[in-house]
Amino acid sequence: MSKALMIGAGGVATVAAHKCVENDEVFSELCIASRTLEKAEALRDKVAGGKVKVTAAEVDADDVDQLVALIEKEKPKIVIHLALPYQDLTIMEACLRTKTHYLDTANYEPKDEAKFEYKWQWDYRERFEEAGITAILGSGFDPGVTGVFSAYALKHEFDEINELDILDCNGGDHGYPFATNFNPEINIREVTANGRYFEDGRFVETEPLEIKRSYNFEEVGERDMYLLYHEELESLAKNLPGIRRIRFFMTFGESYLRHLEVLQNVGMTSIEPIEFEGQQIIPLQFLKAVLPDPASLGPRTKGKTNIGCIFTGVKDGKKKHYRLYNIADHEAAFAETGAQAVSYTTGVPAMIGASLVLTGDWEKPGVHNVEELDPDRFMDMLNKYGLPWIEDRDPVLVP
Ligand SMILES: NC(=O)c1ccc[n+]([C@@H]2O[C@H](COP(=O)([O-])OP(=O)(O)OC[C@H]3O[C@@H](n4cnc5c(N)ncnc54)[C@H](OP(=O)(O)O)[C@@H]3O)[C@@H](O)[C@H]2O)c1
Repeated sequence: MSKALMIGAGGVATVAAHKCVENDEVFSELCIASRTLEKAEALRDKVAGGKVKVTAAEVDADDVDQLVALIEKEKPKIVIHLALPYQDLTIMEACLRTKTHYLDTANYEPKDEAKFEYKWQWDYRERFEEAGITAILGSGFDPGVTGVFSAYALKHEFDEINELDILDCNGGDHGYPFATNFNPEINIREVTANGRYFEDGRFVETEPLEIKRSYNFEEVGERDMYLLYHEELESLAKNLPGIRRIRFFMTFGESYLRHLEVLQNVGMTSIEPIEFEGQQIIPLQFLKAVLPDPASLGPRTKGKTNIGCIFTGVKDGKKKHYRLYNIADHEAAFAETGAQAVSYTTGVPAMIGASLVLTGDWEKPGVHNVEELDPDRFMDMLNKYGLPWIEDRDPVLVP
């Protein structure tokens, strides 16, 4: 039985907190800490009442000293970081100083530069090893389940995986002309960046949204999808021996893209500070303030997500194709947790990864991406905790 400290009280944290209290064989106590105490308390009140003791606290996770003080006071075995990617390094630093395990769902991104890569976090590898503590990076859906699916496919279905396409389809409709399903700042930074995919040992760069394909997703229908760079490409390119190509596609509706183009053209997606009425503001942060809060989309969103991986590789000398995917329902996710499916598909794997560290299955001193660890128990827990996976042995391929 173990205590966890969760940082953040947004959409993903809402789901993960529900799932931690559901998994009361592993979690005995959960402290939810966030920048706004009222939000942490509101989430505590939503999930408390069962066997797991739940408390709330206030913390500014940009401040290592505050984090260290909170960890020393609460003495958790693991910190589940569900705030923003900007806080990855401060929280890892605090975990290192207090010898506490760490888990997140998104890799580090500096606030003032639209750039993300694992290097900053991988640089902690030796220090975590020496301290005897485990850091699990990217235990959401993508990254997260996509890496676990890859490890599972490699372990059970292939001798070698040569091509991997990750397809992320959100067929949900919230009825707004424009809103983002998770933190608008992070989402828009991701979509407006250049695309990139891995081929023959190197990354090939594209213009933003330059490569478009369409795919018929089960329970969603035919959707346009666009090649994006996504963080798991960096780790999977290293961790899948024999891999020759990895691409990541995400679906976007026409209305979303039209609005985004206008916002970009008028400068609203910029992260360069500007002077406005005597104050410095960052246009993208201002845009975030006027857009619907992702948490408010939950009750309005209908439809499903369909996210997974298509693998091409070799088994017993023969070429084969294999697909693993999950379908999640926005309304069912909301009915269960009060958050929609994008938060649900991230919060469930965050709980599972943390649970596996606490039970010792994934306790391995150092800094690891999920595909480096054994996938079997994680795959079982996906079925148990609300994200069942589906296999397709004759998948339609992406041209
Ligand atoms: N891997 C995946 O599949 C996947 C998918 C979706 C999202 N994600 C990641 O999941 C994380 C959470 O996303 P979300 O949609 O839940 O975001 P969200 O709804 O915006 O919630 C973020 C939470 O973090 C808190 N926070 C922000 N800065 C903080 C700070 N300095 N100190 C303490 N708390 C702070 C926020 O507090 P306030 O309310 O006070 O601002 C809020 O409670 C993000 O890192 C996102 O990139 C991963």
